[in-house]
Amino acid sequence: MRVQVPPIKCQGIKTKLVPTILREIERDPAGVWVEPFLGSGVVALNVAPRRALLADSNPHLIRFYQAVKDGAVDGSRTRRYLEREGDLLANRGQDHYYHVRDRFNSSGDPLDFLFLNRSCFNGVIRFNKRGGFNVPFGHKPQRFAPAYITKIVNQVECFRAATELFDWRFACQDYRITLEEATEDDYVYCDPPYVGRHVDYYDSWDEESETSLYERLRKNPCRFMLSTWHSNEYRKNEYLETLWSTFEISTQEHFYHVGARETNRKPMLEALVTNHVRASPREEHERSEEQLMLFERSGWYLGNGARSASEGRMNDV
Ligand SMILES: C[S@@+](CC[C@H](N)C(=O)[O-])C[C@H]1O[C@@H](n2cnc3c(N)ncnc32)[C@H](O)[C@@H]1O
Repeated sequence: MRVQVPPIKCQGIKTKLVPTILREIERDPAGVWVEPFLGSGVVALNVAPRRALLADSNPHLIRFYQAVKDGAVDGSRTRRYLEREGDLLANRGQDHYYHVRDRFNSSGDPLDFLFLNRSCFNGVIRFNKRGGFNVPFGHKPQRFAPAYITKIVNQVECFRAATELFDWRFACQDYRITLEEATEDDYVYCDPPYVGRHVDYYDSWDEESETSLYERLRKNPCRFMLSTWHSNEYRKNEYLETLWSTFEISTQEHFYHVGARETNRKPMLEALVTNHVRASPREEHERSEEQLMLFERSGWYLGNGARSASEGRMNDV
């Protein structure tokens, strides 16, 4: 299947797991699709629910998607902005990257956030204690070539089409508040930071957070799916045995790349934890009329250049 790719990248982005997630979630909940850890938004974009509450504690992610929804960020503004800033980056190199980073850290402008996200080192999102974006330059002054700008513009337009077609609410809030809003008819997809792995100002996650999420999901009346890591060649996720074992757990292997070498592929088992009977396996996620419209529109935006998730590298979409 073709996976729609959002304009923002983040660590732990689930682009490659989207086909599996789509096969296993409860389709079309009577209520709302609730995502307390939105990240890049790739899961919501591909589930394409009619009603959604999309939340994250990182204000920059939510501000960006809210600006897309409001129309403050659209395809043509994004193109003009990236052409101008991309030229400056090509001429001035890393000085310009750090100039935009300083500007973003004082103004929080959503387009500056997009620029940094697409030109920083490894496409990660990381902030210091004072909430300042601190990822260094990705060392590619020619980053914003015309084809790359067009790709990003199409991704913005695709996300914008979704916010026009569907009733999606964005909220910058802690996951505990989001879960309190979930009701029996809703479906919750949780993708918290992987415990003990990423730590920064908006993205820290420890044993207490994992236990508190477990307690909340256990008591919550709605159906849920949780993404977490299962094991890699060195370690396994002990919380799957201590906390989550009372639920259904399925696994899927995927590979991530270390460094630039194509051959340096490391295997990782991802886990999906659910409190409901999994939907029966199916080839294609059945789509509503609005969802089909989104894919038709985004098909026009994305042209034939979109790659399937199984072909793409994590950082190269
Ligand atoms: C693994 S990422 C989600 C990735 C997303 N599913 C995707 O495919 O792009 C985890 C997200 O949780 C957010 N987060 C971390 N702690 C949080 C908290 N206490 N409440 C809400 N969101 C939080 C981070 O800002 C980050 O965007």
